[in-house]
Amino acid sequence: MCGIIGVTGEADALPLLLGALHQLEYRGYDSAGVALVVDDAVWRERTAGGTDSVAKLASLTRDAPTGPTRAAIGHTRWATHGSPTPENAHPHVDCSGRLALIHNGIIENHAELQTELEAGGHAFSSATDTEVMAHLIEQEMATGASLAAATCSMLRRVRGAFSIAVVHADEPDTIVAARRATPLVLGRHDGAALLASDIPALIGHTREVFALADDELAVLTPGALEVTTLDGEPVTPEQLTITWDLEAAQKGGYEDYMSKEMHEQPHAVADTLLDRRGPGGELILDQMRLGAADLRDIDKVFIVACGSSYHAALVAKYAIEHWVKLPAEVDIASEFRYRDPVLNERTLCVGVSQSGETLDTSEAMREAARLGAKVLVVSNVVDSSMARAADGVLYTRAGPEIGVASTKCHLAQIVALEVLGLYLAQILGTQPTERINEVLNALEVLPELVADSLDRVGDVDDVAAKLTDARDFFFLGRHVGYPVALEGALKLKELAYLRAEGYPAGELKHGPIALIEPGTVVVGIATRNPLWEKMLSNVAEVRSRGATVVLVADDGDEESAAVADHVLWVPPTTSLISPVVDVVPLQQLAYRLARLHGHDPDRPRNLAKTVTVE
Ligand code: F6R
Repeated sequence: MCGIIGVTGEADALPLLLGALHQLEYRGYDSAGVALVVDDAVWRERTAGGTDSVAKLASLTRDAPTGPTRAAIGHTRWATHGSPTPENAHPHVDCSGRLALIHNGIIENHAELQTELEAGGHAFSSATDTEVMAHLIEQEMATGASLAAATCSMLRRVRGAFSIAVVHADEPDTIVAARRATPLVLGRHDGAALLASDIPALIGHTREVFALADDELAVLTPGALEVTTLDGEPVTPEQLTITWDLEAAQKGGYEDYMSKEMHEQPHAVADTLLDRRGPGGELILDQMRLGAADLRDIDKVFIVACGSSYHAALVAKYAIEHWVKLPAEVDIASEFRYRDPVLNERTLCVGVSQSGETLDTSEAMREAARLGAKVLVVSNVVDSSMARAADGVLYTRAGPEIGVASTKCHLAQIVALEVLGLYLAQILGTQPTERINEVLNALEVLPELVADSLDRVGDVDDVAAKLTDARDFFFLGRHVGYPVALEGALKLKELAYLRAEGYPAGELKHGPIALIEPGTVVVGIATRNPLWEKMLSNVAEVRSRGATVVLVADDGDEESAAVADHVLWVPPTTSLISPVVDVVPLQQLAYRLARLHGHDPDRPRNLAKTVTVE
């Protein structure tokens, strides 16, 4: 997964490219490169530098040609085919070096195409799947085709997922771009035209942003965008609504994005709840596109997601089954799409994805739609690919999340899914209005409770300082505490690189308890949900085997404190919505342990923010 940027009509394009590549680093950051069309030639610079790739690139480009730039493209890479080396960094060129191409995605049939091209005399200089595209276009242009026509022909031969942008010294003011199953947006302003894999890279340059759809081709020339289908039919691209400003995508005075984003959680929760109630207090989700009539006859809910979004979905399972009295299945998106899930037109399939671009989830939703289900997406990105493909959309309103480990989006997802659960209960009449209002009122207090939880960071830091030597962690929970435990373990793994298992506490005795010994840390979610007493019994079992016990407990709950070595106190709330509060100290614990172990919380190793490959 990679970030791409391109601009034509900007004589001093390099600073724009480098700034945008910084903005796009959350999409991948193991290598970076740019290509500029200057003085009738393509000038290219690339580097592989781990988390510093874009900074390294900035210093390497100091000797870029000084003449005015005609068209320019830039790329920040997350390696898929070929290791992260300068040779594999994008842009890739053809044999002449006059064509340069950047790509996000995967070309599945690259091996057979490379064999064919090599037999035809093309020389390859990288181990990527991308380079075949540069040579295929070169081959077509050799027959007299324009850059756009040759790119079209190339696209007919490749299989897979891609967003691409191509420049050629023979057509120095043109960038040709296309996409299939991965994101690409276009922009225009004052004599320039731009493209990027994501909206934040264009913020600050233009507010006139358009979406490119699958299998559409865009030809960018200074100040102009021309979009067609691969068959040459003209298309009017859809203009997107930009609600973020550049300021919102900066660190805002915090040491890192993760701290900033954790502190934005009360706002993320409050904003996600905004405007959801009508004058009589009833829930109104009128922007959802799926109306009450569509939802009235559903008899089953399926939720598909990955990672933290999956954990938010698991919380929703408890809420939906309790409030709506419908079966709610939750599945990992990458498994769902390859099973034979039983869905039909009476199933509501909800995809949960903060980015709205995760390939596993979007493909799972595509499969659900194929099976006839009504498809709804919960996404944090307005007009994301999934939002545009689904029948309905419920946006979380967490703002851009740059830290790779999801925090504020996760909380916003839980809240949005619970609102959805209540909305279904309202439509299907499974809960009295008073009960729905009671829960909504409790949800509306959550921003205060989350802020209160965040303020206790000093207590979390004290506990973290006592755990710096620990290497093995178990996170245990029951009922809605179970998904919280899974999320706590995931955060610790990805940020502090510590072994952490998340388990339903009742399952421990069926095997994993064999691993508990002195030195093992058990973090338990012991806030008062319906299984709280049973949870305490499970905690007693691990404590008697020598584990160090850290419990998340409701303020003043001395019974829980009595079985713990350390307590992370949280303000109490209704059990079904308690995960929104309970997960906060676990985020802070993972953050502090990451810092104590010297790791950058914003850029965990081996991870990228948006996963647009399988
Ligand atoms: C973990 C994390 C990931 C994402 C997962 C799905 O902190 O952020 O596990 O939750 O990759 O991403 P989205 O929600 O964009 O589909």
